[in-house]
Amino acid sequence: MIAQTGLSTDDPIVDIGGGASVLIDRLLDRGHSAVTVLDIADAGLAVARKRLGERAALVSWIAQDVTAWQPPKDAFSIWHDRAVFHFLVEDADRVAYVRTLDRGVSVGGYVILAPFALSGPERCSGLPVRRYSAELLQAELGPRYRLIDQKLQTHVTPVGNRQDFIWCLFRKTPTSAAAEP
Ligand SMILES: C[S@@+](CC[C@H](N)C(=O)[O-])C[C@H]1O[C@@H](n2cnc3c(N)ncnc32)[C@H](O)[C@@H]1O
Repeated sequence: MIAQTGLSTDDPIVDIGGGASVLIDRLLDRGHSAVTVLDIADAGLAVARKRLGERAALVSWIAQDVTAWQPPKDAFSIWHDRAVFHFLVEDADRVAYVRTLDRGVSVGGYVILAPFALSGPERCSGLPVRRYSAELLQAELGPRYRLIDQKLQTHVTPVGNRQDFIWCLFRKTPTSAAAEP
C-alpha cells in the first residue's frame, strides 16, 4: 500500500508502533530518506536500531505514546500503523489518536491502518483489542479521510496462530465538505 500511494521516496513517512518491525529496513532498502518510527516502548526501537547498525542514523526514532504525541503539523505524507490502533479500547484514546494523526498528516497524504479484522482474534499480546471492518475504521477517521483500498490478510504467527488483519488505505482530503460525494 505504501508503493500504491505513488509517492516518492523523499516523502516523509511515519511508522506508528513500529517497535522492532523490519518495515523500516525494507523502506531504507527501497531508498526512503525521510522515515520516522514511533513506539511507546524504547526496548522495541532499540532492537531495530541495533539491527540496522549505521543505517539507524538515517531514521528519526521517537519513544512515546502515540495518543500523547504532538507531531509537527502536516509533517507526514504517509502514516502507517500495523497492529497498534486496535489496542485503543477506550473512546478517549481513539479520539486522541485521530487528533494526533490529523495534525501530523498533510492534506493529500495517506493513512494506512491495519488492525485486526472482525474475524481476527479478540486479544493481541494478551491484551484486549477492538476489531474492525473498513467501515468501522472510516467511522473512526471521519469523512475527511477517503477510503482508497482495503484488503483482508491472514497472518500466520511464528507459533502457527492465524490472525486476520484488515488493511485500509485512506487519503486525507482538503476539507470534510470535499469528501462528500
Ligand atoms: C503488536 S506490536 C506491532 C509491531 C509492528 N507494528 C508490527 O506490525 O510488527 C504493537 C506495537 O505497538 C506499540 N504500542 C502499543 N501501544 C502504543 C501506543 N499507545 N503508542 C505507541 N506505540 C504503542 C507496542 O510497543 C508494540 O511495539
